[in-house]
Amino acid sequence: MIDACGRTIDHLRLSLTDYCNLACRYCVPDSATPCGQMIDENFAYHVVRWLSTRHGIRHLRLTGGEPLMYRPLHRLIRRISALGSLREITLTTNAQALEQQAESLVAAGLTRINISLDTIQADRFSHVTRGGEIDRTLRGIEVAVEAGLTPVKINVVAQRSFNDDEIADIAQWGLKRGCIVRFLEVMPIGPLAHVADKHLVPASEILERLNKRFELRAIPGSLGQPATDYAVTGHGIRGVVGIIAATTRPFCDRCRRIRITSRASIVACVHDGTSFDLQSCWDGTSLRVEDADEVLSRAVLAKPKEGPRKQSLTMVALGG
Ligand code: 5AD
Repeated sequence: MIDACGRTIDHLRLSLTDYCNLACRYCVPDSATPCGQMIDENFAYHVVRWLSTRHGIRHLRLTGGEPLMYRPLHRLIRRISALGSLREITLTTNAQALEQQAESLVAAGLTRINISLDTIQADRFSHVTRGGEIDRTLRGIEVAVEAGLTPVKINVVAQRSFNDDEIADIAQWGLKRGCIVRFLEVMPIGPLAHVADKHLVPASEILERLNKRFELRAIPGSLGQPATDYAVTGHGIRGVVGIIAATTRPFCDRCRRIRITSRASIVACVHDGTSFDLQSCWDGTSLRVEDADEVLSRAVLAKPKEGPRKQSLTMVALGG
């Protein structure tokens, strides 16, 4: 699948639910009432089958909301995995409920996992997530490593006056456990754009803070990898950290993604409010492929060259 700017689209982010058991302050607005939209399992399966067998989608990331809160998750992964048409099936999660699920996710066919962890201090964790228990997520990370969902990637959204003083500590914690630790610039998304404007820590500063503690050597980035990765040494540690400068250095020219929300819409760009309805192509048991092809073609051709900052949805609704 190639868009109007010549970009190959082979990554799909599929949001299984807009429900999340946490409510991170940059992702879920104060006023949000949990709606708990769950994607239809058969719809999700047929959409992935359609996109991976007819349109060259090779990388699937299951997101939400919190995908571990999606009841048929394991069965859906098993069915998708049996298609044999994907290179990888990955999951982005807060890992609060991972301990009990990691092994059976591997057995179902999950290949890798990204875990959100913005702080390693219990009080800060509870504050930013509005009530999350840090021990569950830390344990979830360890269990993911043990279960072989490796390399486990830890996503850290860097935020001014929240965790900017902790960047090297979080890196050290994750690297010690063999994880790849990725620092994300906070992105201005929808009604929470002001949070990003106020709390952005630019990649240059993240790098500076890491450089004070470790020795970093940039690893030449590969296509479709928005992160700049660095080999890290120091403090008896060897490993990899990444920095995703989505706000100060957008990677739109290398973006290979489309998203599908839990409300069955295609969103071609996280910063663009335009979405394309797929629900009308679903009759309850099967996907009308010609109609779906037509919707997909409109969505992909409308994918903007650069993110226009015109998103009205929150990240929790879009799929992180
Ligand atoms: N900017 C950057 N990352 C974000 N995420 C959610 N909202 C934002 C934002 N505004 C990240 C989460 C998680 C993934 C689901 O998306 O931290 O790692």
